[in-house]
Amino acid sequence: MSSIKKIRGFQDIYGEEARKYRFVADTARKIFDRYNFQEIILPYVEDVSLFARSVGEETDIVQKEMYVFEDRGGRTVALRPEGTASAVRAYIEEKLYAKGGYTKLFYEGAMFRYERPQAGRYRQFHQIGAEVFGVDTPLSDAELIKMVKDILDELGIQIRLEINTLGDFESRKVYIKKLKEYLAEIKDSLCEDCRKRMERNPLRVLDCKVEGCRKATENAPQLIDFLPEEKVERFEKVKEYLKALEIQYTVNPRLVRGLDYYTDTVFEFITDKIGAQGTVAAGGRYDRLVEQLGGPPTPALGFAAGVERLMMLIETLPEKQPLIAVIPVVPEFNIEGLKTADILRKRGIKTELIMKEGSLKSKMKLANKIQSDFVVFVSEKPELKDMETGEQELFENIEDLRDVVEKKLSGD
Ligand code: HAM
Repeated sequence: MSSIKKIRGFQDIYGEEARKYRFVADTARKIFDRYNFQEIILPYVEDVSLFARSVGEETDIVQKEMYVFEDRGGRTVALRPEGTASAVRAYIEEKLYAKGGYTKLFYEGAMFRYERPQAGRYRQFHQIGAEVFGVDTPLSDAELIKMVKDILDELGIQIRLEINTLGDFESRKVYIKKLKEYLAEIKDSLCEDCRKRMERNPLRVLDCKVEGCRKATENAPQLIDFLPEEKVERFEKVKEYLKALEIQYTVNPRLVRGLDYYTDTVFEFITDKIGAQGTVAAGGRYDRLVEQLGGPPTPALGFAAGVERLMMLIETLPEKQPLIAVIPVVPEFNIEGLKTADILRKRGIKTELIMKEGSLKSKMKLANKIQSDFVVFVSEKPELKDMETGEQELFENIEDLRDVVEKKLSGD
């Protein structure tokens, strides 16, 4: 019978890769905690209209990438393609605004987008992300970007930061009208995708990677020229704070993001090291979204990073904890073996009890295969072998051995 394969665009993450995943997720968690963010565990399935109303009806995500299905109760639901919409829904539904001040949430988990799979792009991928509700200051923009930078630094990842401002919806509307007029004039120089985007999502044309489109839009009107003075000043303040924090950035007027909810500051941490899918972490403000989804007017901002893309950039993992293998020399010592392993584990020592029957030689082979740093032979008297030096030491009892093991493992 033929075996069942995983679905295209989905991955099994195991071995070293799983260690990398854990390192990324745990490091992010540590930094989130340092910035006093609280975790929110959100559902994977939401009412499909949540995403149409937030990410945007005309975006690629909603138009062609969502996993939508009818559940057995006849509801049309979607596997979440991102976390912000769910966080906003929860903020409103759980009345998280009721306690006043502002609310800082983080999340981790799988997201689903039916995109064409390639290196760094999957149909199920994972994000770490954070959202801040109830504060509109430039200080909050700088603080969030600094937090993302701290996560990257802690992971040993050096990548460039691009920022832009999208201003407010009203001035953007005026700008988009002008942009459409401009695009209509240069239509013939645009790629097929952009000709489609022109009407429905013209800002995305600026973001197109096709050389011809980039050239043709070189002299396109710029959004910043359509923003009111206070929005320009606001952006200047954010830049000033980033400079004060010694965070290097470039302003990229073409940075428009692929989701509709953004206002004011947007940013992306990008690398050229992992191929075409170089955006590793991205986010920005979305001051109107809470209200749009039926909540009280609440300024907000956030970011998300792709765990798989971060994993591709990790060069060194923290050292593994040393491993000790416990070998009952003959089956008569199995119970003693179980107890020895138990004692070691209770002391926090990573312990593998060799569970296979067979010759001592075959058990040692197994201990080698799993890369044990030490082996304890359980016999009348326990014996400890250092696998690196080959040294062997006999002990009177397990307590004596335990103390020595602890000392060795702590590097004394
Ligand atoms: P996004 O730019 O759609 O933003 O996704 C954020 C990150 O998720 C990307 O930069 C990338 O690293 C990763 N990512 C996206 N799609 C894929 C994929 N198919 N395969 C692998 N990784 C992927 C958002 O999702 C917003 N919710 C970010 C945000 C939070 N803005 C404000 N708050």
